[in-house]
Amino acid sequence: MQNDAVYGQYPNFRPRRLRSTRALRALIVETELSARHLILPLFVRAGSKLREPVLSMPGVCQLSPDEVVREATLAYEAGVPGVILFGIPERKDAKASGAYARNGIVQRTVRLLKAELPELLVITDVCLCEYMSHGHCGVVEHGAASPRILNDPSLKILARVAVSHAEAGSDLVAPSDMMDGRVRAIRGALDGQGFEDVPIMSYAAKYASAFYGPFRDAAESVPKFGDRRSYQMDAGNTNEAMREVAQDIAEGADIIMVKPALAYLDIVRRVKDQFQYPTAAYAVSGEYSMIKAASERGWVDERAITIESHLAMRRAGADIILTYAARDLAAWLKG
Ligand code: PBG
Repeated sequence: MQNDAVYGQYPNFRPRRLRSTRALRALIVETELSARHLILPLFVRAGSKLREPVLSMPGVCQLSPDEVVREATLAYEAGVPGVILFGIPERKDAKASGAYARNGIVQRTVRLLKAELPELLVITDVCLCEYMSHGHCGVVEHGAASPRILNDPSLKILARVAVSHAEAGSDLVAPSDMMDGRVRAIRGALDGQGFEDVPIMSYAAKYASAFYGPFRDAAESVPKFGDRRSYQMDAGNTNEAMREVAQDIAEGADIIMVKPALAYLDIVRRVKDQFQYPTAAYAVSGEYSMIKAASERGWVDERAITIESHLAMRRAGADIILTYAARDLAAWLKG
């Protein structure tokens, strides 16, 4: 009955079982996952030969700059074209001064990576939360009643951070703060300093998500008070994501990102369909750690489930996937 409904419009079609060979299946596969779409996030802190495991993210470490080079080399040799850097400064303050210091941890690491691995795509995350004593992504005004995030004063600092990354040699700056108007502010500052050719990948549709939990351990960026709901998006909203993306494109974003990935594949698809822009999805820390935890218990097949979920992100329309599993995937996809 069901077949009649589906095939009725093709009167000569007879459903039948065809010989299915590996080569034939490969010939007609619609979506492919390969290492060249992947970006590996790395956490960098001062020191040397340092690999500090992040307990909530098995296999992920905070690395000193020399270890970042080692990790990036392995990833690059396995076919992963780029990394995105998150810095953990030695000191935090209320102005996030570590975020734009000429010799800040990210700036130093970018210079080192560019010297050692000139072909590697080095992306830098532009945000203030790791550098602020309070752990928020913008400047906070401590009023009498409750603390408030100050959008516009945050823009000046974010622009300064982006310029300092470009000066160090960053290939692509990626603002993740979600302040309004940051893409325009960053574009203007980069252009003004002679970095017209440095592109921006904006975390355009970034949801306020419980899936970021383990990252905040890794980046030591847990907010000391309140949450990020005043600047990150509500999980129930789709149209708002379209407005955020449209805004970032209008302000000059070159690549747009949806984050988290797996729980927001409908957003990835809608963004891709509507804007036809280079689109990235961030498979965030919670997604990674859930798979790790279940695999450690033997409840799921880590390799199969990691490949399947990343393939789903590609199927949803992601051109680029930022993922902590990039190196594993690169090895598995080759084998
Ligand atoms: C900083 C930032 C966050 C992530 C990337 N950039 C955390 C947050 O917004 O709290 C999360 C990435 C992840 O969970 O893997 N604003």
